[in-house]
Amino acid sequence: MQLKNLALASVAATTSLALPATTSIADGTTFALITYKDGELLGNAGVQAALRSLFVNLPSQNATCGDNPDPNFATFYLNDQELNLFGYQRGNQQKIFVDRSGMGMGKIGYITGSEGLGRYWETQGWTLNDNQLLFKGTALQACPNSIDGGWSLWLQGVAKPGYNENCTPVVVTALETPDPIGCFYKN
Ligand SMILES: *[C@@H]1O[C@H](CO)[C@@H](O)[C@H](O)[C@H]1NC(C)=O
Repeated sequence: MQLKNLALASVAATTSLALPATTSIADGTTFALITYKDGELLGNAGVQAALRSLFVNLPSQNATCGDNPDPNFATFYLNDQELNLFGYQRGNQQKIFVDRSGMGMGKIGYITGSEGLGRYWETQGWTLNDNQLLFKGTALQACPNSIDGGWSLWLQGVAKPGYNENCTPVVVTALETPDPIGCFYKN
């Protein structure tokens, strides 16, 4: 799916807010994540995965996607409340974690393959609630002025996660991707 189409589809999704809530996206079904700040699309495309973190509005996430060009947004799927990145090769599975400890401050990251989890890292607890991504009921926030001028995504709960300033609550919404491009996201 092209970036433009993804952005357009997300606009279409917002304009149908008056309709009954759509059925939840099933486990194993791939989706992109779109970020809204104050009801407006943040950035022009989906959430990106790079450098073991999640971002919005990076010029390039620099993923490797087999024979396909990098669509510049990440593709995800849920499995038993774990949030996975959709890859294109066997092995090297990439999985999202959160760290809600005092030092983690709500950090959202990902591990690759058999890499171990840090002591306080949690992978299970992700849900789509009317397609909004939550971790154990908690929504996300975005912090500006991250690398390459992008926004970094964190769990809500700490005002200055990772000592980032001016973070703001966001609504991160899943949008099904019928023709997903599997990628390996840069560590
Ligand atoms: C992507 O690659 C470009 C060119 O090497 C670099 O400037 C940029 O910082 C990279 N972005 C990420 C997220 O790795």
